[in-house]
Amino acid sequence: MRRNDPPPVRSPKGQALYAKARALIPGGTQLLSKRPEMFLPGGWPSYYTSAKGAEIVDLDGNTFVDMCISGVGATVLGYADADVDAAVKAAIDGGSMATLNAPEEVALAEALIELHPWADMTRFSRSGGEAMAIAVRIARAATGRPLIAFCGYHGWHDWYLSANLADDGALDGHLLRGLDPKGVPRGLKGLMLPFQYNDLDGLKQIVAEHGANLAAVVMEPVRNPPAPGFLAGVREIASAAGAVLLFDEITAGFRVNTGGIHLTLGIEPDMAVFAKALGNGYPISAIIGRASVMAAAQDTFISSTAWTERIGPAAALATLAKHRAQDVPAHLVHIGERVMAGWTEAAQAAKLPVEVSGIPPLAHIAFKVPNAQAARTLYTQTLLDRGFLASGAFYAMFAHTDTQVDRFIAACGEAFEIVAAALRDDTLTAQLRGPVAHAGFQRLT
Ligand SMILES: Cc1ncc(COP(=O)(O)O)c(C=O)c1O
Repeated sequence: MRRNDPPPVRSPKGQALYAKARALIPGGTQLLSKRPEMFLPGGWPSYYTSAKGAEIVDLDGNTFVDMCISGVGATVLGYADADVDAAVKAAIDGGSMATLNAPEEVALAEALIELHPWADMTRFSRSGGEAMAIAVRIARAATGRPLIAFCGYHGWHDWYLSANLADDGALDGHLLRGLDPKGVPRGLKGLMLPFQYNDLDGLKQIVAEHGANLAAVVMEPVRNPPAPGFLAGVREIASAAGAVLLFDEITAGFRVNTGGIHLTLGIEPDMAVFAKALGNGYPISAIIGRASVMAAAQDTFISSTAWTERIGPAAALATLAKHRAQDVPAHLVHIGERVMAGWTEAAQAAKLPVEVSGIPPLAHIAFKVPNAQAARTLYTQTLLDRGFLASGAFYAMFAHTDTQVDRFIAACGEAFEIVAAALRDDTLTAQLRGPVAHAGFQRLT
């Protein structure tokens, strides 16, 4: 420890609860990206008692500014947003579940179609992965075809994981390396055809071989910027093959504009799926699409009790209203640009090679050094001691302030100096108070 370093953050209650969780909950958490080992094994606060704006208080009373995944990208406005929460409380007071349907779902369908004039109809569910499973079922039902060309990550369901049945390496660069599709029936083998983002030739080859059986091309419209002509090329290829172009907007949507990022990119899909930011963290996901495709949702059984509750659509309506009224995307881009520039400048000052990538509201930093994962872990540990939750990703929220960014960038400067010195002295792992963080969840789109 250097002379002026703050004392290490301790979170004994959080550690003890997570130790208990590991015995009771396989995998410890419900989402890999919230697993403490992904951040700082043995040191991550793990649980919270309250969260407001961009701040989180852990079980041990430590307060942190969240400068990492911000509710895994769901809380685009910020934690416990007063306007969204007021709408949710009203929905609860009016009865969040009943035998009759919630009128908010019709209003939300109308709002999403107004935002995306190419779309005619909408279905709702509650999580991102299930919405993708629904969308793929509809696309297969609409086309009567089985095969899916895809790139990127789209959730945990069998339709997607079946790609790993082709052979062990099939998902390299698409999904978590080494992810085991145990439990996914081998009968699904061969239905998933991977291609790389920005590789139009790869998609062309799939269509040349399998075009007549291709139900859909499934992809995120953007994660890193698309190469010129790539998305227009994908649109053309999908149309020519008679396949549904399905954009997964679960993570990209509602960040650079109010709606799908494809609106900004100027490419219209046949279906799009939203979740995460749509309800500012309340469970709600939407599948929107052209009537010609969506009508097939009536020819196949897609139905669930939890999709009829009222909180999700009420939260989404309030989120959409605030998103538009306050020009939330402008703030997200501003904050994200500041973080990306701050990372770059601080790393240059510390002579630490890093790669800053992504789009401003959804930025990534990677350490381009030997033992990069240990470097990232030391960065997380150093920032935790300075009052920040930090990892290799930053999701901007409307609640993030310039003051928080200023403080964060200054703390990053210190962290980069410490990491650079540890690399020079070969003390990276020696300076860690626990093991190196697990690698993973790097989407290569
Ligand atoms: C692009 C994309 N698709 C699908 C999903 C799965 O969504 P969920 O975690 O809500 O099931 C995610 C989640 O990270 C995602 O980023």
